[in-house]
Amino acid sequence: MRETYREFYRRSIEDPNSFWGEQSKLIHWVKPFNTVLDYSRPPFAKWFAGGLTNLCFNAVDRHVPVRGEQKALVWISSEVNQEKSYSYRELQTEVQRAARMMQYLGVKKGDRVIVYMPMVPEAAFVILACARIGAIHSVVFGGFAAANLAARIDDAKPKLMITADGGSRMGKVVPYKNLVDESIKLAQYPPENVVIFRRGLDPNMQLVPGRDFDYAELRDKHLGAKVPSVWLESNEPSYILYTSGTTGKPKGVQRDVGGYAVALAASMKYIYCGNAGETMFTASDIGWVVGHSYIIYGPLIAGMTTIMYEGVPVRPDAGIWWKIVQDHKVTVMFTAPTAIRVLKKQDPAYLKKYDLSSLRYLFLAGEPLDEPTHVWISEALRKPVIDHYWQTETGWAILTCAPGVENTPVKFGSPSFAAYGYNLRLLHEGTGEEVGANEKGVVTVAPPLPPGCMTTVWGQDERFVQTYFTSFKNKMVYTTFDWGIRDQDGYYFILGRTDDVINVAGHRLGTREIEEAVNMHPNIAECAVVGVADQLKGQMPLAFAVAKDASKLGTPEGRKGFEKEVMDTVDKQLGAIARPKAVHFVTLLPKTRSGKTLRRSIQALAEGRDPGDLTTIEDPSSLEQIRKAVTGLNAE
Ligand code: PRX
Repeated sequence: MRETYREFYRRSIEDPNSFWGEQSKLIHWVKPFNTVLDYSRPPFAKWFAGGLTNLCFNAVDRHVPVRGEQKALVWISSEVNQEKSYSYRELQTEVQRAARMMQYLGVKKGDRVIVYMPMVPEAAFVILACARIGAIHSVVFGGFAAANLAARIDDAKPKLMITADGGSRMGKVVPYKNLVDESIKLAQYPPENVVIFRRGLDPNMQLVPGRDFDYAELRDKHLGAKVPSVWLESNEPSYILYTSGTTGKPKGVQRDVGGYAVALAASMKYIYCGNAGETMFTASDIGWVVGHSYIIYGPLIAGMTTIMYEGVPVRPDAGIWWKIVQDHKVTVMFTAPTAIRVLKKQDPAYLKKYDLSSLRYLFLAGEPLDEPTHVWISEALRKPVIDHYWQTETGWAILTCAPGVENTPVKFGSPSFAAYGYNLRLLHEGTGEEVGANEKGVVTVAPPLPPGCMTTVWGQDERFVQTYFTSFKNKMVYTTFDWGIRDQDGYYFILGRTDDVINVAGHRLGTREIEEAVNMHPNIAECAVVGVADQLKGQMPLAFAVAKDASKLGTPEGRKGFEKEVMDTVDKQLGAIARPKAVHFVTLLPKTRSGKTLRRSIQALAEGRDPGDLTTIEDPSSLEQIRKAVTGLNAE
């Protein structure tokens, strides 16, 4: 009889050594590890210590002898109307060219390479090339602005940056190279060189002599390159991916090599049910963790064809994704709930127009999946739609069902159960004790974290421990910073963040980062940014600001003009994805007597809820100003 998920899960928690030892066989090791888990320095977990492997070898080379002519990567751009495919053999060739190009520019094992690229195949080549030679890639989402990019440059201190002349969004060119130039001017630790992949999107782009190199020219020099994989100890860093937290300073989530490869291989089998020779379509971006794990590494490690899509889900029309499913016989698809909410507003006929018989599952993650959207898409597709919950930090699912183990029924609005390997605990915020069924608690994981999860904060071990493992007194547990609840049947529901992180269309942003950006406007004295519920995007930032000189605010035009200036400042500092929905000007922010801004009360008012306990407020009239400012908003 087949093992139930409950038994499978129990094995993973009670005997992690034998469980993960078994899973380790899903990937290739050139030298076997000494121990499955070295947990001699909690909470730092070293998986497969002593083992030698390589992510790129597992994603590419391993498949060439058996499926060399099978498509590995299919790139479809509805932005520039192009489509290109690469077989595993061709991918291997391109990756080696890119690897040699980096070596030519002096990149060695352990060096950081920042990748700031649109969704083009070359981005996948350079990411895999880094993995091949043991360079540490740090992909930065193309929507981030120059100042943001500069902060990441200074933290990662890259040897090299790789970019493109431009990207395209909704048919509009988005310059990348100019932004990289600007970020390098702002950075204290700029890279020595920049490689630019020219798409012909920005013909006016200028090269800096001696520093900048053209991707195509370098590639031409190394057409026959043979670059063997560098074997890495399982715990050496593979990449850094920056993500937002409570402070204004993004954290560099560091990932290992062997643990990540095993975790992804196992997830392809037990969660996504993605088999070699089949096709996976993850509609996300390489700048996010979902892109790292399930556009690039996961499906390739599994020997699948991966689809890389540049474009939005409604252009040229709302059938484009379903056409891709039909034309490429996609078996598993993965995206964020926002995209589904966007599609829900379109003509449902688009879903009936294409043959979706190849599709087995649609997975959703990145933000809460509301029940009406879950019901709508399940009924429209007539396929299982699986909500699963995870974080940049974990690299793969924390809560999910695992149809590759057992077909458990899905409950709408719930990402099901703890994924195998996660010793999940819902803890009472105050006491740190486990809560019972239907009681709200903080979602935590008793360490060690399973393979694939972050191993530390880049260059800051102390910050890793401080940030993630010290929320509860006398208890070292990993906190996700999410509230959750478990029902009587054992299904979990995520109720939102416990910290100041918000989720805009599946993009994770720190309200502190946005506040810092707003404060960059020379006429802002102080501000508070909160996330407010938004029907389409899940949440949107909303800013309340105090002006230094309020003389401009006397007229509606003056206010509008000032609001626009503040929004432009945010665009420039962080990028348009962080732009507040509105900026309300007040003369005072609600604060406690000790000077702490009452963000929760502001947020409650902005969402038309009760502001809660206000006994500590310094000046109640401040709250009145917020109430007045948002009244118009709630009436919209
Ligand atoms: O608050 C949770 C929310 O997104 C956060 C992680 O975002 P990010 O680091 O960008 O990683 C996304 C990886 C898929 C979480 O702390 N979140 C993610 N998935 C869900 C979710 N909230 C509710 N339901 C989900 N399925």
